[in-house]
Amino acid sequence: MIDVLLGLQWGDEGKGKIVDYLAESYDIIARFQGGPNAGHTLYLDGNKVVLHTIPSGIFQKHCMNLIGNGVVIDPVTLQNEIKKVQPLCADMLDRLFVSQRAHLILPTHRALDAASEASKGDDKIGSTLKGIGPAYMDKTGRNGLRVGDILSKNFKEKYDKLTQKHLAMLRQYDHVVDWQQWEQPFFEAVEFMRTLQIVNGEYWLDNHMNNGKKVLAEGAQGSMLDIDFGTYPFVTSSNTIASGVCNGLGVAPSQVGEVYGITKAYCTRVGGGPFPTELLDETGEALRAAGSEFGATTGRPRRCGWIDLVALRYAVMLSGVTKLIITKADVLDNFNPIKAAVSYIVDGKETKELPFDLCDKDIVPVYESFAGWDKPIALCTAYSELPQVFKDYCRFVEDYLQTKIGFISNGTGRNQLLIVS
Ligand code: GDP
Ligand code: IMO
Ligand code: MG
Repeated sequence: MIDVLLGLQWGDEGKGKIVDYLAESYDIIARFQGGPNAGHTLYLDGNKVVLHTIPSGIFQKHCMNLIGNGVVIDPVTLQNEIKKVQPLCADMLDRLFVSQRAHLILPTHRALDAASEASKGDDKIGSTLKGIGPAYMDKTGRNGLRVGDILSKNFKEKYDKLTQKHLAMLRQYDHVVDWQQWEQPFFEAVEFMRTLQIVNGEYWLDNHMNNGKKVLAEGAQGSMLDIDFGTYPFVTSSNTIASGVCNGLGVAPSQVGEVYGITKAYCTRVGGGPFPTELLDETGEALRAAGSEFGATTGRPRRCGWIDLVALRYAVMLSGVTKLIITKADVLDNFNPIKAAVSYIVDGKETKELPFDLCDKDIVPVYESFAGWDKPIALCTAYSELPQVFKDYCRFVEDYLQTKIGFISNGTGRNQLLIVS
């Protein structure tokens, strides 16, 4: 069986921390989509580590970690990440596996990302500029290069052919990108990647699952950034919901067990696009300050707002979430009241469904208010110690989403996780 952990909002829900914790009970952690646009933060002996491509089970000594076929890999980012992680975790390369079917991000993919975004002006998506969109375009356009290709003799030929195609595309843009400076590091990193354990991910996983190994699939981004169901076109280029696990790892739907869905106790978004519960006032700024809401990959300030139960209910439905995890509960300590959007007014009509057109329609959230509390949640060491008003808030969320909360995270530390009883 394979369990899944994924973000229910616009990313940065705290997936890295929770996977690192849950990894204690799993044998394999597998990334199934996304790429270096992800930034998953965890703390190892008090030291902050941000992972972009390496799965967040890497610090658990018993865990094997697979970068699945659905991921797009920038060899340079991966090599840099390994250089950072290896001194903290000497045996990491013995436990890291890469699917031969994962696609590669080329220097010209990054150049195309930059040129495309620059050409959009005010309508830009706010991409992390890691080359994600162009790499997935080449995948679905059937032009992409895969990890398995780096082992073939004519890799350079294939690379040159694809790069020529990209250069023709780049000529359509005014934006000039000095992508040539990225070529030498790219080839050095490809050389390094040849030394990694490159596997046929789907057979590798199947064999391990047949031998009774427990697998956790680690999502990147969040459900509202899903290419099909997110706030299109302000989304990423992969399926971030639970169905992405089957395509992104080569496992059958019947193998999927528990689906953990993570949400912050409030909501954030980084980059452009609709965000109905965004707070553009001092409360939003206070949330950003209290939650240190700055991007783990780009350092950009994250937009902040109240939790959006309409969007969450949609995300829970799409992935069949079986257990909720609420993170950053401690951040709400000094807010009173605390609000949760329970419906939207769209074109004068109240709805609990996410509208097709979030971009051009005026969406007015309807809120339920909750009283704040006067005790720091970060200091609680058991669910029973949480302030009653926060527990009431949790019950309300559970009832609305018709899904039980399994854990509440009340700080950045690995042990700051309360099991809900
Ligand atoms: P991810 O992309 O989903 O892994 O999340 P990020 O790492 O991008 O962002 C989550 C941030 O919140 C990180 O800085 C975490 O250290 C931090 N974090 C996670 N859980 C908690 C929590 O319960 N409380 C607080 N205060 N911070 C948390
Ligand atoms: P993790 O895994 C938050 C956002 C970008 C942009 C949009 C498209 O850390 O939760 P892309 O680079 O994919 O073309 O960007 O998606 N985005 C994220 N926001 N967390 C992430 O990952 C994100 N990955 C992409 O800001 O709005
Ligand atoms: Mg992140």
